[in-house]
Amino acid sequence: MSVVNDPIPFLDLSGEYNELEAEWFAAIHETGKTGRYILGPNVQAFEEELAEHVGSEYAVSCANGTDALMLSLRALGVGPGDEVITSPYTFYATSEVINLVGATPVFADILPGCFTIDPASVKAKITSKTKAIMPVHIFGHPARMDELNAIASEHGLAVVEDAAQSYGADLNGKRVGSLGTTGGFSFYPTKVLGCYGDGGIITTSDATVVESLKKLRNHGASAPFMHDEVGYNSRLDEVQAALLRIKLRKLDADVAKRRAVAARYTELFAGSAVTAPSLPENGGHAFNLYTVRMPDRDRVRGVLNDNGMPSSHCYPLGLHLQEVYKDLGYKVGDLPVCDKASTEALSLPVYPAMKMEHAERIAATIIEAIG
Ligand SMILES: Cc1ncc(COP(=O)(O)O)c(C=O)c1O
Repeated sequence: MSVVNDPIPFLDLSGEYNELEAEWFAAIHETGKTGRYILGPNVQAFEEELAEHVGSEYAVSCANGTDALMLSLRALGVGPGDEVITSPYTFYATSEVINLVGATPVFADILPGCFTIDPASVKAKITSKTKAIMPVHIFGHPARMDELNAIASEHGLAVVEDAAQSYGADLNGKRVGSLGTTGGFSFYPTKVLGCYGDGGIITTSDATVVESLKKLRNHGASAPFMHDEVGYNSRLDEVQAALLRIKLRKLDADVAKRRAVAARYTELFAGSAVTAPSLPENGGHAFNLYTVRMPDRDRVRGVLNDNGMPSSHCYPLGLHLQEVYKDLGYKVGDLPVCDKASTEALSLPVYPAMKMEHAERIAATIIEAIG
């Protein structure tokens, strides 16, 4: 009798939804009865609870992770004529926001093991126009914040952590989002802390920045109908905040489950031609994605695909080489570590409810395909 394997999803949130549905709907009913649907009690409570969990003084929620980064830059006074040094190996939103505030992104190279920005490369890119550094804790791996903060303080720069993919990651006993001047998180459904729609939040311990963020997310208003500056309509919905409060309570357990899946993959890849993701030296990886490196990545990905196994080749082209940045003049070879990662990296599914057997089937298929 032949055994038919069940399909492997890249992400399956259905079990989690079933588990949370009753609690979330009870919270929605409560919200409905309060009649306060914008910046109401759930948003306020969630901001306080998340700030405490992250270990920052404050948290200001907003409409999505992109806005969290853009509002951070605006609140820090980054604008036309300024440069912001960031990673080319990330989702486009990271550098897009630099352009959206009128500044110019400057791309530094990354480190080969963990895919985060290389502090030595950042240092080499500093000019008199540099206003901020925006490290990305990519895939859930914290960036080298000690070195980056030291460079920033030497040159009087702000540090905006792009923590969109890394809720729950930590370094030296502190969670990401509490390590720079501000941290921007995304609650896009695929993220480690995801809601059922769009959402984002900025963490900071700077009270002046908080004052500015609160105005900017609400049309630049300092009081009802009093507008101090050009702002945005960028607010987190009450019902999403209600869900996020519930999910935050089980976040640490969820991250532990992600780490267990990742550890199983790493165990299986030991001794093969697959390079498992490195772990932070003095901290914890949140494993929003489990990203390996391998020779012949595209062929192996094809084999996975033929076997009904999902993967993602993020990121296939460094941001510095994207059409949108052709005027910046970067060419292949300028950021060689990023260029190489773009051809070798493959992200594999990892989520709290993932069956270990699925990770084992994926790992076995990759090892066999590599030969
Ligand atoms: C690294 C990174 N930065 C920023 C963002 C933007 O977040 P959002 O999709 O919530 O706007 C994302 C999410 O896709 C991301 O992965």
